[in-house]
Amino acid sequence: MIVTTKQLFKIAYKKFAVGAYNINNMEQALGLFEGHKKAQAPFIIQISRGARTYAGVKMLENIIKAAEEMYPEAIFAVHLDHGTEEVAYECIDSGFYSSVMIDASHEPFEKNVEITKRVVERAHAVGISVEAELGMLGGVEEDIQVDEEHASLTDPEDARKFVELTGCDSLAVAIGTSHGAYKFSGGQGLHFDRVEAIQKKLPGYPMVMHGSSSVPEEEIRRINAAGGKIDPSAKGVDVNDFAKAIPFGVTKINIDTDGRLVWMRAHREHFQKHPENFDFRKPGLEFIDAYADFIDHKCEKLLSKGQLEFVRDQIKK
Ligand code: G3H
Ligand code: 13P
Ligand code: ZN
Repeated sequence: MIVTTKQLFKIAYKKFAVGAYNINNMEQALGLFEGHKKAQAPFIIQISRGARTYAGVKMLENIIKAAEEMYPEAIFAVHLDHGTEEVAYECIDSGFYSSVMIDASHEPFEKNVEITKRVVERAHAVGISVEAELGMLGGVEEDIQVDEEHASLTDPEDARKFVELTGCDSLAVAIGTSHGAYKFSGGQGLHFDRVEAIQKKLPGYPMVMHGSSSVPEEEIRRINAAGGKIDPSAKGVDVNDFAKAIPFGVTKINIDTDGRLVWMRAHREHFQKHPENFDFRKPGLEFIDAYADFIDHKCEKLLSKGQLEFVRDQIKK
C-alpha cells in the first residue's frame, strides 16, 4: 500500500526512523520489498534523477506498481530524491509520488527559499509533501561533487526561518554525513549537538539525514577479495548512531551507497566462484537474497523492524 510520507513521519516521529532507499532496477525493488517483509517494517522508495534517466520513468514506476501488487502487505511511500524544480513539477503532476525533494541547497539562502516555496505551493495544492535541504553535505550527489571544504553544517536559526518561510514538510539537514563511500575522511562523525540545536528551534518537526550509508568494512573487504579495487579508507555512518539521532527528530534516513556495495559484492563473489557462468539470473537471485538480509538488518538499526502492524493500525485510525 502506498501511503503519504507525511503519514509515515507522523507515526514514526521520535519512535523510529523510516529507511529511504534508492532504486534503479527490478532486482533492487525485489530485494527491498522482500527485506521489508522479513523485517515487517514500513519504508520509503526513492527515485533520483539519475535513476529516472537510467531505467526510464515509466519502467521505474511500473516496477514499483508491480511490487505493490506482489507484496500487498507492504506499507511504503514513493519519493523523488534530490529533485530540481522542473523534475519536482513532473513528479507532482504525475500523481504517482507521495512526496518530492527540492534540493536547492547549493543556492544562496534567499534563492533556496524562493525555489522551495514555489515547489511547496504546487505540491500542497495536490496534497503532496515536500522535503527541502539547507546546509551542504559533502560527497558526490547526482552530477555535483562537494568537497569537505565547501560542505557546511545547517545553521539552527536559519533552519527555523527556512521552514517558516517555505512551509516545507521536512528538512534535510547537514549534520556531518556526506554522500558516497568516503565519509568522514577528516575523522569526524555525526554532529549530535547540531541536530539537537536544530530540534530545539523546530520541535516536533521531521528531519532527514542524507548520506547515511554505513559502508561496512566487511563489504569493502569482500569486494576487494573478489577482485574489486575500492579504496579501503571508505567509511560510513555508524549504524548505532541511527538510534541516537531518532530522539532528536531524525525521521527519514537515506541509504543508497550500501545497496550498491551489496550488489557489487554479490556479483563479484558469484563470478569469481563461477567464472564459467553467463546466466545473469543466478547472481541476480543471490543479490536479491543478500539485499533482503541487508535491509532486514538496517531496519533493526533504524528501530523500524516489527513496526508494520502498528503503522497499519495508525493509518486506519
Ligand atoms: O544522493 C544521491 C543518491 O545516492 C542517488 O544517486 O543520482 O547516482 O542515482 P544517483
Ligand atoms: P549514501 O551515499 O550515504 O547512501 O546517501 C544516499 C542519499 O543521501 C540519497 O539521497
Ligand atoms: Zn541525498
